[in-house]
Amino acid sequence: MTYARITGTGSYLPENIVTNKDLEATVDTTDQWIRERTGIEQRHIALEGQTTVDLAEQASLRAIEAAGLSPQDIDLIVFATSTPDKVFPSCACILQARLGIHGCPAFDLQAVCSGFVYALATADNFIKAGSSKKALVVGAEVFSRIVNWKDRGTCVLFGDGAGAVVLEANEDAGILSTHLHADGQYEELLHVPCGIADKPDQLKAGLGTIEMKGNEVFKVAVNTLGKIVDETLTANQMQKSDIDWLVPHQANLRIIAATAKKLDMAMDQVVVTVNEHGNTSAASIPLALDVAVRDGRIKRNDVVLLEAFGGGFTWGSALIRY
Ligand code: UT7
Repeated sequence: MTYARITGTGSYLPENIVTNKDLEATVDTTDQWIRERTGIEQRHIALEGQTTVDLAEQASLRAIEAAGLSPQDIDLIVFATSTPDKVFPSCACILQARLGIHGCPAFDLQAVCSGFVYALATADNFIKAGSSKKALVVGAEVFSRIVNWKDRGTCVLFGDGAGAVVLEANEDAGILSTHLHADGQYEELLHVPCGIADKPDQLKAGLGTIEMKGNEVFKVAVNTLGKIVDETLTANQMQKSDIDWLVPHQANLRIIAATAKKLDMAMDQVVVTVNEHGNTSAASIPLALDVAVRDGRIKRNDVVLLEAFGGGFTWGSALIRY
């Protein structure tokens, strides 16, 4: 059997940091409220002119180097983002050119905060089908560009960043299963209410920013992530105790803790980076994964559960023998 195995990880956060204290000066909030309700301490915000692909390029180069490959070895690029540089070409194509790669398939995929899990599942299927041998999977965002910086309910939550992995065909181990879901009926709870084709005048007027009914999203997220944990374990005939590491989407420490509780997992088996960078949407899982691989926590053959929930609603998981 052919698996898709992660052979390299990389991440990148823009240097510019905005702390909770900084936000106290611009909106009616406090460092204490943000820490207690979300676990977030700071976020990295791209400088003017710094784009999603700029961040992705750095993360990708680090992942390719960690895999011991050169960019020309890559034969597929799947790029998850909801904040693309341009309407077109895709971020994947812009990144491909930056990396000096020519000819391989390259495309973007949009599933908001679940984007990386969707992209990983897509590349996994390309590899299992024999269509790719060495895939670059990227999650990168500049959510700061679609945040309403006057809305304290959302602006304290989000940040910018990028993460990437290289997936290679392997006979022994890798991605064991992926599980993807969506339910479009919840659009009104979390969305950007205008765009290129729908209410373009509002977009031009600067109204293309995130609107969220946070408390309602929170409840659905906790409930849904609990269910996908069960679905993933059942599909692999595994017990909760078989999982070594949880690498969750980094939106809110309380949501992460609820999923860990569902798994009977101690928090020291959970990779948490949300304090460092807030919710970076599609970038958050590969950012956290890269941190735990590089600091030596996640080791070869560990069983790792990735899970995410986001706008759409979309949600998904991937179980990996690392
Ligand atoms: O990644 C995609 C999915 N998104 C998420 O997972 C986000 C899910 N939601 C959440 O993480 C949480 O719901 C939030 C962190 C957004 C909010 O936490 P909460 O505990 O659900 O608070 P709440 O929305 O129920 O608001 C509680 C109070 C309200 O005041 P009143 O009505 O009780 O007087 C808010 O107005 O907190 C107020 N509030 C704030 N206060 C200080 C809301 N935002 C802030 C703020 N600073 N930044």
